[in-house]
Amino acid sequence: MIGRKWRNILLILLSSLVNLYAGDFFKNDEIENRIDLLLSKMTLKEKVGQLNQVSGTNKDTDEQIRNGRIGSFLNVVGAAETNRLQRIAVEESRLGIPIIFGLDVIHGYRTIFPIPLASACTWDPELIKRAEQVAAKEAAVSGIHWTFSPMVDIARDPRWGRIAEGHGEDPFLGSVYAKAKVEGFQGKDLSDPKTIVSCPKHFVAYGAAEAGRDYNSVDMSVKMLREIYLPPFKAALDAGAGTFMAAFNDLNGVPASANHFTLTDILRHEWDFRGFVVSDWTSILELLSHGIAGTPEEAGIKALKAGVDMDMMSFIYVDRLINLVKKGELSEKLIDEAVRRVLRIKYYLGLFDHPYMDETLKKEILLNKEHLELARDVARKSIVLLKNENQLLPLKKEIKRLAVIGPLADSKSDMLGTWHCQGRSEEVTTVLKAIQSKLPKVKIKYVKGCAIQDNSKKEFDKAVRETKKADATVLVVGEAEFMSGEAASRTELALPGVQLALVKELIKTGKPVIVVLMNGRPLTIPWIADNASAILEAWFLGTQSGPAIADVLFGDFNPSAKLAISFPRNVGQIPIYYNHKNTGRPPGEEKFTSKYLDAPVTPLYTFGFGLSYTNFEYRDLTLKTEKINKSGDLIATVKVKNVGDYDGDEVVQLYIKDLVASMSRPVKELKGFKKIHLSAGEEKNVVLKVKASDLGFYDHQSNYFVEPGMFKLFVGSNSVDGLSTNFEIIEK
Ligand code: BGC
Repeated sequence: MIGRKWRNILLILLSSLVNLYAGDFFKNDEIENRIDLLLSKMTLKEKVGQLNQVSGTNKDTDEQIRNGRIGSFLNVVGAAETNRLQRIAVEESRLGIPIIFGLDVIHGYRTIFPIPLASACTWDPELIKRAEQVAAKEAAVSGIHWTFSPMVDIARDPRWGRIAEGHGEDPFLGSVYAKAKVEGFQGKDLSDPKTIVSCPKHFVAYGAAEAGRDYNSVDMSVKMLREIYLPPFKAALDAGAGTFMAAFNDLNGVPASANHFTLTDILRHEWDFRGFVVSDWTSILELLSHGIAGTPEEAGIKALKAGVDMDMMSFIYVDRLINLVKKGELSEKLIDEAVRRVLRIKYYLGLFDHPYMDETLKKEILLNKEHLELARDVARKSIVLLKNENQLLPLKKEIKRLAVIGPLADSKSDMLGTWHCQGRSEEVTTVLKAIQSKLPKVKIKYVKGCAIQDNSKKEFDKAVRETKKADATVLVVGEAEFMSGEAASRTELALPGVQLALVKELIKTGKPVIVVLMNGRPLTIPWIADNASAILEAWFLGTQSGPAIADVLFGDFNPSAKLAISFPRNVGQIPIYYNHKNTGRPPGEEKFTSKYLDAPVTPLYTFGFGLSYTNFEYRDLTLKTEKINKSGDLIATVKVKNVGDYDGDEVVQLYIKDLVASMSRPVKELKGFKKIHLSAGEEKNVVLKVKASDLGFYDHQSNYFVEPGMFKLFVGSNSVDGLSTNFEIIEK
């Protein structure tokens, strides 16, 4: 036996060797030769085994591994158990091919960070990258090699529950996070035992599910696909993503898990993706329900031919492909190609050289102090201040009496949010507990007030009494954790149950009430927007929810988050997003213009919006040159001054509009941003750079081009307000 120290040194040497080989994303002759050799020894049965992904274990599992029937697991956690299974694969199966263990590490493993839609509001990709490094480390020491994340589906419909898992409505912002997350999970070297391989999902256009109903069909132009829905996937690929997940939805008549156009023509051929594609859960079998396959065999052939390499939980590849090859209905070469891709990622992960995880590491890594601090920081930076009339916030720490009310004020489990992985509710600090520990001298009265969902108003009187007696009230309302995420679409986006009635009762007292919202999607809150003095959008912030919210409420942190998604006024406005087209009859006073009789066309809160305890003033927007050639850069400078009393962060946002083009273009498109810190009274020159080559669009034949002509540039603190000027793109 070699000592632990020497073993580690050896591992580092080995991993740097693999890293040397890594080069230009999964292109390496040495590894390809190793795969060739291994493939030449594999039976057809062993090959289809590599393409089979299984959830959890049962009494037959060990034997199936021994027989080479399982290439991957999901939902098996803990290094002791993954090592045990790995040992069977490596030491007892004929060829000793290691297993790859996958899991949905969506916003943290054990230390739970804010849901992705929340942390997208930080506009801080470096911070998010660090959060994913932590998630990767915690998952890796628990035996996990692979996360089914990031979810980079653009979503413009908050009825869709999975909007909580993504980065909102904008392809530019979504691409920035896609890159940051892939880099965070994967690090510089996949074979480093503390990194895991990412899996951007769901390829593609799942977020456009019709009517916001989960799994629903999508019909859209390829132009729209390329301009809005594909860019974050491309950004993830360019950052080195090792796997992709095929989506559930039908896209233009071809379900995503049988879609040759997206999986092979675009992903493989056009983008040169060399990792592997996993199906979504039973999505191969579901080709029968889609009505494009009459038998599981037919479904298997369609999926494999389209470019799905690994079968998650349909058991069609493992059970049916062998016969199809024997009958001559499927070429073994196609199977070899899929196996090659799976093995390639296993090699890059270093699994052949170091298949086991040190079981002792979890003690020092899971939920450690630095991880909790980072989670608190990400959480504070995800909270969007939507309203703050008469500077009600921040509250003074010297107040005498505080009421904390609402069904979410002390609900540990809800605050974790959807897909909270191994996060445990007992490890969450709630708003109530955090305020109590921050302000031990203040008299704090807690009343639940009502449940999230039922109709009882029994506690309303008590809540009103406490509000009247208190100097201020923190009222925490919203959705239950299970109301967003997968299979959690809603047709009504108001506060569930009698919560709005409770809000009304408390605001009626005339006492200062701060409404804190917890939710996995934009809610329709027009009454609250009109009548509450202060509103904090807190989403689901994870393990450190309470401390983060308390920091913002009492001024230990000045909010800086900006919405990554528009808030509709009512469900009828959906889909509503900032980068829409102008129409031929833009909304106006005239009757025959594009608008509603019963509601404005604008959202309640627009994309990019978020207040601070201080104010920022923008002036002197200038361009380095007003004519930019197609291969040049647009360089804009603006002065931003903190004119308030608090130090704070501001997200300076840059949008463009192509004024006249050969095809209609959106009224605004985000093309850049910078998050800056300004002390009270400080002014900075902010320089923003955009490549002219990023200002183009697609035609219907999938050609991308940048058209010369006049553009408008907007720089400001959200997608509506700001300074503007014009510039021109010239041919040369
Ligand atoms: C979801 C995926 C997830 C998978 C595995 C599916 O139902 O759509 O996003 O990664 O399950 O848990």
